[in-house]
Amino acid sequence: MTQKGFTLWFTGLSGSGKSTLADLVYDELKHRRGLKVEKLDGDVVRTNLSKGLGFSKEDRDINIRRIGFVCNLLTRNDVIAIASAISPYRAVRDENRALIGPDRFVEVYCEVPLEVAIERDVKGLYQKALNGEIKGFTGVDDPYEPPLNPEVHINSGRETVEESFHKIIAYLEEHGFIEPLGESGYSKEEEEAISAHLEALGYL
Ligand SMILES: Nc1ncnc2c1ncn2[C@@H]1O[C@H](COP(=O)(O)OP(=O)(O)OP(=O)(O)O)[C@@H](O)[C@H]1O
Ligand SMILES: [Mg+2]
Repeated sequence: MTQKGFTLWFTGLSGSGKSTLADLVYDELKHRRGLKVEKLDGDVVRTNLSKGLGFSKEDRDINIRRIGFVCNLLTRNDVIAIASAISPYRAVRDENRALIGPDRFVEVYCEVPLEVAIERDVKGLYQKALNGEIKGFTGVDDPYEPPLNPEVHINSGRETVEESFHKIIAYLEEHGFIEPLGESGYSKEEEEAISAHLEALGYL
């Protein structure tokens, strides 16, 4: 099977698990399955591609359009693009879906109750936002618009990381984005390569 490009787009509140799951899926696809894959994490993008942008609606939209632009370049060259940014506004996410092509855009909604995200407070930002030290923090004093029909719906308040990860991989396999692994744990291509190698060595 030749690799087909697609964009895996994570969206959700801060602390909903986007980066955690994006990293796991990236490792699985790149290192275990040997696929070409690139990752665009919101925090990283804001230190280079979107350096200098703030958190107004306008700047957030520019940031998400830029990530979508790069995802499109990768996807159309049959690289898998994994984006993980809060991407709070539905309209811009849908713009990216239209740009990249609805059949190549897999939106993963990481849903988490706000109380759970606050309790996790992975970066300590919720406390600052609640104290008024940061203004315009998504979920506290800035909006988050959940996807209406995400391809994958994660409930990170109820699921383990492992369950959520498997949900995403299962979706990709079941919808033909990636090839399922055989019972051996190898892809069909790997199995064939191993068989050919063993045959050449005279073992088969
Ligand atoms: N089912 C789950 N999926 C993902 N993360 C989970 C899940 N259950 C618990 N967690 C935990 O939730 C936290 C999520 O943090 P993470 O940095 O991935 O969030 P994020 O969405 O990338 O936030 P930010 O937008 O601030 O970058 C991690 O500590 C992770 O271990
Ligand atoms: Mg993150």
